[in-house]
Amino acid sequence: MKFDTIIQGGKLVSATETTRADIGIRGEKIAAIGVGLAKGNGQGAKIIDAKGRYVIPGGIDVHVHLELPFCGTTSSDNYDSGTKAAACGGVTSLIDFAIPYGKESVQQAVDNWHARAEGKACIDYSFHAAITDWARHSKEIDKIMDQGIPTFKEFMIYAAQGWQSDDDAVFGALEMLRERNGMLCVHAESSKVLDALIAKYHNKKDMKTYGARLHTMTRPHYIEAEAIERAIHWARVTGGKLFIVHMSTAQGADLVKRAQSEGVQVLAETCAQYLVLDDSVFANKDGHLFACQPQVKRPKDQKRLWAGLKDGEVCSVSTDTCTFTTKQKATWKGDFTKIPMGMPGLETLLPIVYTHGVLKRRLTVNQWVDKCCTSPAKVMGMFPRKGILRIGSDADIAVIHPTKKRKVDWRKMETNSDWNPYQGWQLAGAAEHTLSRGTQIVKNYKFIGRNGHGQFIKRSNPGMK
Ligand code: URP
Ligand code: ZN
Ligand code: ZN
Repeated sequence: MKFDTIIQGGKLVSATETTRADIGIRGEKIAAIGVGLAKGNGQGAKIIDAKGRYVIPGGIDVHVHLELPFCGTTSSDNYDSGTKAAACGGVTSLIDFAIPYGKESVQQAVDNWHARAEGKACIDYSFHAAITDWARHSKEIDKIMDQGIPTFKEFMIYAAQGWQSDDDAVFGALEMLRERNGMLCVHAESSKVLDALIAKYHNKKDMKTYGARLHTMTRPHYIEAEAIERAIHWARVTGGKLFIVHMSTAQGADLVKRAQSEGVQVLAETCAQYLVLDDSVFANKDGHLFACQPQVKRPKDQKRLWAGLKDGEVCSVSTDTCTFTTKQKATWKGDFTKIPMGMPGLETLLPIVYTHGVLKRRLTVNQWVDKCCTSPAKVMGMFPRKGILRIGSDADIAVIHPTKKRKVDWRKMETNSDWNPYQGWQLAGAAEHTLSRGTQIVKNYKFIGRNGHGQFIKRSNPGMK
């Protein structure tokens, strides 16, 4: 059999097992898996030596914001820098959020996001469609689903941005999507109490005393927990599929676990930052850089989220990448309500979960692949085209050294940022080589791909099967 590329001699890691084999790639697909594929010098195939390396399905980050107009500015990673960063981190597919602004329709938002990505993206991508005006946007659900977008997003906060959904919209979307086999993703934070806490502390004296700590003081864990509880309630009564995005609390994980055991169709992701950072960061001089929504919580929340990954109630890890430079973040000028919210993450997702999960024995190497590659593909309706090393699947593959650590340094990264939340951390698990649909886009830790290679992924049938 002739191949274009052979990945030779690596340890193939799936969500359930690890085997030693070669992978033969023809065109954009995996054409063969077996030993000795490179016999006779591979008959002209390009050989990628993977001896002593893990070979995994490319990572899938299902929660990304590229070039997002937000908090008075635009997030600094776009489809150029963001997808290059992803590739260097071993991530080969991402899902962004197409969000309507003002009176825009969902279709306009989707078209806007296509325009951002086309010709620029270096890896494959998809969008969740945000619903910000239920009465108008609900009429577009069928049309958007026909375009290969079966997942919709509602925010339970963000009234000022005009994005907020109330209970009627969450209830209505869950009901409607149940009929159509779609899924509702929800940003769960409790807006009324959150706004009351912000109002309480938004004064000169407290801002001078507490600085960036007010970000965490106004977003205690119960802000997330109440909203998750309410969203689960609507999933329970409607029977609709609910996906809690960027879950950051122990209480959230408890609520999801209990609801799942009662048969409610609820899934939850967490993000890398909630697993390894805690709210002590806000006491530092540069604490405002770490502000995101929800903000990072307490060590006991981290512990519970790791346990949730292991036990299954937390189905995947993503990043909520929403990068802002120090200059953009500096516009806060001491006012915690004016910090551009979000952090970079795509380039460090697999390394963070590998180093702090697998190397610290919180997860097995197979669970790492499950939570960062396979489960996201299944939950978001891309499996088995993505998320697995299988004959016929896209040849989206990362080759990873099991122990070699590299120091995080924003100066040497593709991410468009002049700081990094993990600056100076020693992380293993970055991609030595990455392939996207059969094309090598990272070689020896360096990006070698091209803009426009990435394609829109049509998805269907989301939810855990
Ligand atoms: O702070 C964050 N997470 N920014 C992006 C918007 C969101 O809520 O996901
Ligand atoms: Zn959010
Ligand atoms: Zn987000």
